[in-house]
Amino acid sequence: MCGIVGYIGKQDAYPILIKGLHRLEYRGYDSAGVALISADGKLNVYKTKGKVAELERFAADKDTSGTIGIAHTRWATHGEPNDVNAHPHYSQNGRIALIHNGIIENYGVLKQMLIGKGYTFRSETDTEVLVQFIDYLRTTNNCSLFEAVQAALNQVIGAYAIAVLDRDNKDEIIAARKSSPLVIGIGDGEYFLASDATPIAEYVKDVVYLNDGEIAIINRNKPFRIVNLNNIESKIDICKLEMNISELEKGGYPHFMLKEIFEQPRTITDCIRGRINVEGTDVILSGILDHKERFLNARRIICVACGTSWHAGMIGEYLFEDLCGIEVKVEYASEFRYRNPVVHPDDIVLAISQSGETADTLAAVELAKSRGAFIYGICNVVGSSIARATDSGTYIHVGPEIGVASTKAFTGQVTVLVMMAMMIARLKGRIDTERYESVLRGLLAMPEKIKEILSQADRIKEVAAIYTYARNFLYLGRGCNYPTAMEGALKLKEISYIHAEGCPAAEMKHGTIALIDHEMPTVVIATNGSIYEKTISNIQEIKARGGKVIAVVTEGDTIVSHMADHCIWVPETDEYLTPLLSSIPLQLFAYYIAVNKGRDVDQPRNLAKSVTVE
Ligand code: G6P
Repeated sequence: MCGIVGYIGKQDAYPILIKGLHRLEYRGYDSAGVALISADGKLNVYKTKGKVAELERFAADKDTSGTIGIAHTRWATHGEPNDVNAHPHYSQNGRIALIHNGIIENYGVLKQMLIGKGYTFRSETDTEVLVQFIDYLRTTNNCSLFEAVQAALNQVIGAYAIAVLDRDNKDEIIAARKSSPLVIGIGDGEYFLASDATPIAEYVKDVVYLNDGEIAIINRNKPFRIVNLNNIESKIDICKLEMNISELEKGGYPHFMLKEIFEQPRTITDCIRGRINVEGTDVILSGILDHKERFLNARRIICVACGTSWHAGMIGEYLFEDLCGIEVKVEYASEFRYRNPVVHPDDIVLAISQSGETADTLAAVELAKSRGAFIYGICNVVGSSIARATDSGTYIHVGPEIGVASTKAFTGQVTVLVMMAMMIARLKGRIDTERYESVLRGLLAMPEKIKEILSQADRIKEVAAIYTYARNFLYLGRGCNYPTAMEGALKLKEISYIHAEGCPAAEMKHGTIALIDHEMPTVVIATNGSIYEKTISNIQEIKARGGKVIAVVTEGDTIVSHMADHCIWVPETDEYLTPLLSSIPLQLFAYYIAVNKGRDVDQPRNLAKSVTVE
């Protein structure tokens, strides 16, 4: 949802900015641009429609010198993706340049006011209004760039992470945030800024996460300062980055998504490390232990999330209700925040978010907080806005996820939810030792079982080749594999652009069954479990209508494998752990179909990984 990056220091800014944009490209990739101030004081702005590689081609024969610059990769909100609407935007007098991630909601009113003052606009964007507004305040108040930015932001309604340059001051970048992320890397006489830490990690370890309403004054000759909108100086809270650079590379895989699918044995190991003991007899999540009474006395658990994270929350519903006896609601964050939801002070709100930056989830958290609920985060990105807004939480620790379609984050989220349910059930005395230990040992065995599935990748690729023709797909599952089926359908939609629908297997006969014909394949999750027999009946209903069935079944299955057209086998495990296994072949299936169709797997059209606007 737009990536921003900036540099000021001793090195050439351009290569650092371009590399940073590549790292942030998962956030948006419809246009890109860069602004640099050269040694002789020229402000050079280059921007073009398309990906960062286009920008590099465009700028190849231009003056890209300078040790200060800002750059942007865009996911369009206001105005179609084209060269003019691309960032950076600059003031009409060519003096101030700005990059922005977010939305300025009152841009219409400000634009009219500026037009009245003689300003003209080149683009359709809200961002150009902001830069002209800053220029207007700067000129009329005859103040510093910082003061003009501060004055402008005090009148702006909306969300932003911005970085601003003034052609006449090649020693300074002003950056600010509200509801969109911004992290600043502090080096030796140099500073980096970016939407997340991935462009920064290879240069510095010391970072500062800007808080809402804070403005950073980054000057190469003066001490680094943070001042808020009310002009109060903030304490500078330096955090240490722990990010392995190799995690940001494809490591020999053709796509990040494939790499991330294959990483899952390791990411699940990382997720359970230090939480389940080696014997598989106990699980401890400090986030729960520190608030034990809250969990023991919880009236309800309300999961708020979007997309894939919402599917993980749906699996949580099965776990917490059955194992812990706690009523669960699973809410689309975007709906929850605009309803008038009933939230009790003894409710626990689980905010599930890979990025920890999804605007709707963050707003749902703020709403629940204002109603007194206890907020527990399940995030991947350490130090992200949602992680910081929660009362407690558990990181999934699966490392940076770069492919836009979420894979390893989903299995990490489900792993955390299983560990949470186990711990709460144990604390409440609702689970016997035998089942408790069997599930924990099942989790410990998960990495090896996932490896077994991954070793069948070639077979899944063959099955995918057979079904690449299809224009619609149905995905069926029951119990906790119903959300897994929805997640499988989402994966296919996101990266192959084939329409797919996830449905509870038994619900199919109430409508969806009308779609079945010999052209519409159905993927059925029919692993062993309490409703296996019922799922068999659903498969028969499809076969009776000439439908094709691809079934995900447990190793050793002899019934479904005779009925289905194609089978993919997963190892036996506890029923509540089956989503961790059945989701893997569905990820691979979607991946290979998308590759066969020549899709841009890591950066599918219209999507962005981190949606920081409503
Ligand atoms: C976007 C992404 C999805 C993701 C959703 C929620 O729509 O394209 O893959 O599931 O946001 O993201 P979060 O970071 O909150 O898990």
